[in-house]
Amino acid sequence: MNAPTTERSALAHLELVLRQVRMEATGINSYEFVDPDGNELPGFTAGAHIDVHIAPGVIRQYSLCNDPQERHRYVVAVLRDETGRGGSRGMHETLRVPNRIKVSVPRNNFTLAEVASKFILLAGGIGVTPLKAMVHRLESKRIDYDLHYCAKGPQYAAFEAELKSIARSGKIYCHFDGGNPKNGLDIVKLLKHPEPDTHIYYCGPAGFMQACADAAAHWPQELVHCEHFKAPVQKAPAASDAPVVGYLVELAQSGRKLTVAPDQNLAEVLQQAGAPVETSCQSGLCGTCKVRYLAGVVDHQDFILDESERQSVMTPCVSRCSGGTLVLDL
Ligand code: FES
Repeated sequence: MNAPTTERSALAHLELVLRQVRMEATGINSYEFVDPDGNELPGFTAGAHIDVHIAPGVIRQYSLCNDPQERHRYVVAVLRDETGRGGSRGMHETLRVPNRIKVSVPRNNFTLAEVASKFILLAGGIGVTPLKAMVHRLESKRIDYDLHYCAKGPQYAAFEAELKSIARSGKIYCHFDGGNPKNGLDIVKLLKHPEPDTHIYYCGPAGFMQACADAAAHWPQELVHCEHFKAPVQKAPAASDAPVVGYLVELAQSGRKLTVAPDQNLAEVLQQAGAPVETSCQSGLCGTCKVRYLAGVVDHQDFILDESERQSVMTPCVSRCSGGTLVLDL
């Protein structure tokens, strides 16, 4: 995890050209962005994502799914979600070659622990995107892995052929359930016995995420990694056990003091006060708003920080202070 200053510098934006749109599977398009002058792009690591500015006020995070060794392009894949907030529909309906699109430089909240000797990658549908970048990386390092790719049918499984064509060090297993998870991968059986020096990575829709979390609950949690692309319902702030109370915020660098009412969002209060806090997902998923705190009891509501990071870093878009005074390194 980078220090917040480094993270904040990572908020630089790029103006890229959409060079190609490809239909990868039913409802799934991939989008390839390149530098307009053919320059190299900032590098990224497997599991990283970019913010795509789809339209004014419509910014979405998408995992990079191409080989992290590539410096000439960023590729994301987007499932059109008719019931979503409109980001994926905007990608499918409005982005056209050769539009110029604003994107952030890559950030990574889902990094690969390359110290492990074996990886179990579990992909549910479009959740394959960050795991595909991991497959590229593991192949380049010749590290052993199994990718279990769960989808309704082969027509819904983006990148299946490409994944199978590059797999040398690891194995690709596709599980097609026809829409009934009971006919798909038995995740409980797969993860029944924790394996030494083996890390689990999973990404997919809510039901898949819960099934993976439940099946991996008895594994040492430092070996288990996941990335949500939507905030899980059960972790919404309203479900928190902590009472929602007002509190004081002290900005250590300027000495300013702010009051946050029980119904106020901390990131909004900071932005209204002119503090250098940017937001993107506003769901505790992307890490754009991360801030270091120096004192105070924080009620963490994000889905990206691990316990050690939570000792000094918070995401004010969803997290708050449990009462008293919160001192931020701003
Ligand atoms: S804005 Fe994405 S985690 Fe706060």
